[in-house]
Amino acid sequence: MTDTRDAALAVVILAAGQGRRMHSALPKVLHEIGGLPLVGHVLGAAGALQPARTVVVVRHERERVAAVVTGLAPEAIVVDQDEVPGTGRAVQQALDALDGFDGDVLVLSADVPLLEPATLTALVRTHRDRTASVTLLSATVADPAGYGRVLRDASGDVERIVEHRDATDHEQAVAEINAGVYVFRLAPLAAHLAAVTRDNAQGEMYLTDVIALARRAGERVAAAPAPDAEAALGVNDRVQLAQAARALNDRIVRRWQLAGVTVQDPASTWIDHTAVLAEDVTLLPNTLVLRATEIARGATIGPDTSLSDCEVGEDAVVRRSDATLAVIGARANVGPFAYLRPGTRLGEHGKIGTFVETKNATIGDGSKVPHLSYIGDTEIGVNVNLGAGAITANYDDIDKHRTVIGDEVHSGSHNVFVAPVRIGDGAKTGAGAVIRKDVPPGALALSVAPQRNIEGWVENNRPGTGAATAAARARAAQEAVDGTQRQDG
Ligand code: UD1
Ligand code: CA
Repeated sequence: MTDTRDAALAVVILAAGQGRRMHSALPKVLHEIGGLPLVGHVLGAAGALQPARTVVVVRHERERVAAVVTGLAPEAIVVDQDEVPGTGRAVQQALDALDGFDGDVLVLSADVPLLEPATLTALVRTHRDRTASVTLLSATVADPAGYGRVLRDASGDVERIVEHRDATDHEQAVAEINAGVYVFRLAPLAAHLAAVTRDNAQGEMYLTDVIALARRAGERVAAAPAPDAEAALGVNDRVQLAQAARALNDRIVRRWQLAGVTVQDPASTWIDHTAVLAEDVTLLPNTLVLRATEIARGATIGPDTSLSDCEVGEDAVVRRSDATLAVIGARANVGPFAYLRPGTRLGEHGKIGTFVETKNATIGDGSKVPHLSYIGDTEIGVNVNLGAGAITANYDDIDKHRTVIGDEVHSGSHNVFVAPVRIGDGAKTGAGAVIRKDVPPGALALSVAPQRNIEGWVENNRPGTGAATAAARARAAQEAVDGTQRQDG
């Protein structure tokens, strides 16, 4: 394998902030969009550039953030920020980890999740083409509130960045914002950071001050515009979190549409960035395709369906259902109103029908659990039909036990399978049976006592009730009919 790493590029990702405006116990950079934490999107975009080194700066909830970072990018170097606040301090604390490196440093904010690798590559290219000391990504947005503004001089060159809270009214009217993404040449970056103060509205070391310092030192400062304002969206609060999730989803849905997936209602269809869909899949309204779900050709999912970490076979149909860690075979049929819990495996042409819950259950090819059932810790062979209301009693208060049902078994309605229990191939069970003992192949299992009718019970034991009156009336009418028949006969 050839090494395609960019030896002259290092990435620093800023992820130490608390994200106070989120009002959350979860660190901001761990909030998810598209099924991945914000910092995960940034790590992904950075990784695509194949930098020589990736450094992630953490502080708030450092263990939690560091665990997610190393889980997603084991090669990343995690660095701790001290108690001095600000993005400038965060970058400064990453410098030690860049010891021995010489080149350009791409600084990314972990709360700016929608930037695509192509945008970052273009930013690096602009920086190198212009032999700039620093090149920042800018965007012109409809509502610049909260962002740092890019201030230019009379000839249009970037002069400095002013933070929203430090800006005059006149400066706040500027619509060009700093996206929080920059490429710096390492040596001048380190030198200028040493001169950054905390003399500002927030008492923080601002990374953005490096722009003015570079400019004053006579170095070249460049700005490259983001392809669209949306790509530069920074997530500081839950409104922006929803905006980012929506924008990402629009992008993902569009990508699958162009790859051959019919999405009837893009606005109510949510697809995680890790999901994989084949051509001619159809997604109906209110459908969520989450985590590592894979859907094969021709399958129809929805409406009102959620699939998380599922595998769906060709031409399967899943309607109004909820499934997690389930495998649904080709041409199988699920729902409406089915609940497939982890470990469900439905075979080809199988069916899990209406108001059916399954868990750790293998249901063989052509087998059907059509109505009102709970099937847990169960193995079902091929071409089985379970009658309505089949319940596996898998739990005896202490342990879970397995139910094993052979091939071609047909059970009557309203059966309870008290596990551990085995039903042999081809066996049948009667309606209402409670199956406590194994059923041999081909046997008919009946567990319900023969029906006994106690005549007159209601009139004798519930006199004066509506039931007794109705029973007396029906008995009198029947006796009259019997009497007439006797006279006729
Ligand atoms: C920052 C920029 C602003 C820009 C905006 C773009 C500064 C001073 N301001 O503002 O110009 O328009 O991003 O979205 O840089 N962080 C640390 N350590 C800290 C503080 C922050 O690592 O001490 C991290 C945060 O986790 C976050 C990123 O840096 O990922 C940006 O911090 P945030 O506080 O959100 O900055 P903004 O106010 O959005
Ligand atoms: Ca921010």
